[in-house]
Amino acid sequence: MLSNTLPSLMEWLDACPTPFHVVERAATLLQSSQFQQVDGLSGELPRNGFLCRDGSIVAWRLGAPDAPIRIVGAHTDSPNLRVLPQPNISQSGWSQLAVEVYGGVLLNSWLDRDLGIAGRVIGVSGESVLFNVTAPLARVPQLAIHLDREVNERGVQLDKHQHLTPIWGIGTNNFSEWLRQVTGLDHIAAFDAHLFDITPSAILGVDNSMLASGRLDNQLSCWAGIYALINSLHSECTQIVVLNDHEEVGSDSATGAGGPLLESIIDAISIQEGLSRGQHFDRMSRSWCLSADNAHAIHPNYTERHEPRHAPVPNAGVALKINGNQRYATSSRGAAHIRGVADSAGVPLQTFVSRNNMPCGSTIGPIAATKLGIEAIDVGVPQLSMHSAREMCGSADPAHLLTLMVAFLNQ
Ligand code: CO
Repeated sequence: MLSNTLPSLMEWLDACPTPFHVVERAATLLQSSQFQQVDGLSGELPRNGFLCRDGSIVAWRLGAPDAPIRIVGAHTDSPNLRVLPQPNISQSGWSQLAVEVYGGVLLNSWLDRDLGIAGRVIGVSGESVLFNVTAPLARVPQLAIHLDREVNERGVQLDKHQHLTPIWGIGTNNFSEWLRQVTGLDHIAAFDAHLFDITPSAILGVDNSMLASGRLDNQLSCWAGIYALINSLHSECTQIVVLNDHEEVGSDSATGAGGPLLESIIDAISIQEGLSRGQHFDRMSRSWCLSADNAHAIHPNYTERHEPRHAPVPNAGVALKINGNQRYATSSRGAAHIRGVADSAGVPLQTFVSRNNMPCGSTIGPIAATKLGIEAIDVGVPQLSMHSAREMCGSADPAHLLTLMVAFLNQ
């Protein structure tokens, strides 16, 4: 098992400002553990393999033919600000970048932070180059209190289009020219460019009991999933880890959990093993999907926002998420299964249920269950400040999730 869990997670978080970087890092780690990359599904699938598509990746270790499947799922994307295709603004002496708000951003958390820019460019001949500039390049400055006297009484009010436009220089600057310099690519056809807080992840607290970083939701689960697959044993079951992009915007895309990626790979595995449609259907009914996405830890300043009997606390284990209205997929059968797995691995579990008058978010578990006919179990590490540019969780819980995933894949 991974000996220094937290440094490994922190290195991952700092190296991955975008889903593309998550996929690149996961691929590198898998390759160094003898997983073989495939570009498509028409050939023979290797025993240990993986396939990348943009901001998504699926990796597998094949078990016995017709054996049940154990799937670990997580999402690679996080809410952020993204540079528009024609971003250059020169106004009132300042140079700014026009941006789009991606997903459910906690808007105020992006104010007054030193921001870097990362992403990928596509060259005119189709080549794709990743870039990651961690220097302080941009900032969304908050209005001074003298010009906004009621701000503390009224709360910060931000218009998504008007007030989040970062400043990245003075006078006139050209984003395309800057991209060419940064990537070394002369003929850029298009780009994805995401802003991110350049502050590195940090262990926090007088007792070092907390971890702060951007993108804990949900790269913490991506990190655990990939290391769990690498560290799990070859077992009877076929083991799969799927990391999907676009969860924060509803998962409906070619590479999102609503798309065909995971289903196509599972179909290809069953076909390779010579299974009939019926045998494949039966196999899915014997399989499990563990969908990992961070949960809300109880906030000490807002305890009334939680269901008091089902409010996870930090460093007390992974939260099992339950919602009868199927915003989470966990059934009582699934809950019993994962409790057995957790007990066998010595991992503490907690239960998260949201209040009836507080609509809870959803995640990829119910989507996987709907598309594949597989029973999914929703779990996640409890955290505070979800969707802030800088989130926080207990520093002992990432190891809990990793241990749980390894045990889940092995059984
Ligand atoms: Co999430």
